[in-house]
Order: sequence, then structure tokens, then C-alpha cells
Amino acid sequence: MRPKHPIGVFDSGMGGLTVLKEIVKRLPDYDYLYLGDNARAPYGPRSFDTVYEFTLQSVKQLFAMGCPLVILACNTASAKALRNIQQKDLPKIAPDNRVLGVIRPTAEIVGSLTKNKKIGVLGTQGTVNSNSYPIEIAKFSQDVSVTQEACPMWVPLVENNEHLSVGADYFVKKHLDHILHSDPGIDTIILGCTHYPLLLDTIKKFLPSNIQLIAQGEIVAEKLEDYLLRHPEMEQRISKEGKREFYTTDSPEQFDASAKIFFGEKIKSRHLHLD
Ligand code: DGL
Repeated sequence: MRPKHPIGVFDSGMGGLTVLKEIVKRLPDYDYLYLGDNARAPYGPRSFDTVYEFTLQSVKQLFAMGCPLVILACNTASAKALRNIQQKDLPKIAPDNRVLGVIRPTAEIVGSLTKNKKIGVLGTQGTVNSNSYPIEIAKFSQDVSVTQEACPMWVPLVENNEHLSVGADYFVKKHLDHILHSDPGIDTIILGCTHYPLLLDTIKKFLPSNIQLIAQGEIVAEKLEDYLLRHPEMEQRISKEGKREFYTTDSPEQFDASAKIFFGEKIKSRHLHLD
């Protein structure tokens, strides 16, 4: 039996599983439906309009599958599509449903984690070009300076299971050197892409140990718990049988083969065609 009213979790591919993993750890009783648009990933280099169109299509699909609440567990989609969907589309297509992203929860707390008020953000080209992190962080902590670095090769390395290769070492070091050259004072770095936690060990190898790294999974899970406490009308609509379903727009076999590294346990996904 399909979960009736699960929380939808969306990403361009596998990265959102790193967020879902932490959400499920914290909130195990709810039902969840994960959708990875692997057939069209990566989103990072795509235009604003394309990411918006693909994300809206996926959100509508998740609504049609019964999700009253959707988390965009993708920074690129959160940066390029969330605001439009919340302000323009939701009132028309599903005024009682909600879509939340991953940038705002991260931006909300980062000011309290940096000591010297100098933050670095590593993300896809799309996330960096959108300037969403500097804009959102400024809303909560005006005194924090934000240095961004786009790492266009990191998502393809992770999606192709090359995250432990010498190639990954090269591209990780290249972008860490670059961001620290741009601002040698950075004391806190946000992994502003949900694929990047898989590169954590490699990042730690090349990053001075006094710089703290922030991954988003736990932050998003904590903020979601808080959101559901503040919105009982939404909390009551979500089904609670502890069910999890996984869909991919590409090959389920390929998805399942990589999913364990992202999610920590075996997954059996199904194919979904978006039209
Ligand atoms: N996990 C997505 C993010 O957080 C990856 C984006 C992509 O597909 O390039 O940005």
C-alpha cells in the first residue's frame, strides 16, 4: 500500500537522500516519498527558467501523489525555483500545500556558528550565481561576510561514484584553495549542495582543521521538526505509518546501486515518468 499523505522530498538526483536520511532519523514516524530527477541531473549548470520548470513539474507530481508538504532537498532548486513556486504557483495550484527549501534553514543558524563572522559557501554554479546564500544570510546576520565558490565538477563526481577517486582529490583541493585564497579568514564553510556530504572525507583532507564544516541534513531535519510543531494543521495532514517510497526519473537499478552510500541503507526505487 502506498503511503497516503507522505512528506515529499525532492532533489535533482541522489543528493537529497543525505537530507532525507537525517530527517528520517529525527522524525521516523512520518511517511516519506522521495523523488530524484536523475534523468535531468545535474541542475547546477541549467538556466533559472529550466530549473524552475523542472522543479515545478516535480512538485506538482508529488502533490498529485498525495504529499501535502514538499521539501526541496536541493540547493539549486531552492535557489532558483522556491520563491516563484511559493509566491506564484502555490496559491493557484494547491493553496493549502506547502513547499520548503534548504537554504533558509541553513542561513538562519550560520551566524551563530561563525566566531569571526566570515563564512564560505560551496555550491553549484546555479546556487552561487543566484546569490541566495548572501541574500538570505544577510536577513539574519548583517555582520557576516559571505564568500562563495562554485564547484561545477563536484556533483558529477558524486553522481558517477567517483567521489573517492584521485580526480575528486584534484577538484576538491582546487576549489578549497580558491575559496581560502579569496578570503583566508573564513572560519566556517557551508556545504551548500546536498551532494557534498559524500565528499566530506576528501574535503577534510585538504581543509585546515580549524575551519568548521556545516552539512545541511541535521539542520533541515531540526527546522522541519520545529515547523511541524508550529503548524499543527499541516502536521495532522501527514500520514504516520513510517513508510518510505523512492522514485527516480531514470533507471531504478542505477538509483538503488548508489543510494546506499547516500542514504545509509538499501533502497528499492521505482521509475517515474514526469510529463
Ligand atoms: N543536490 C543538488 C544541490 O543541492 C545538486 C544540484 C545539481 O543537480 O547540480 O544543489
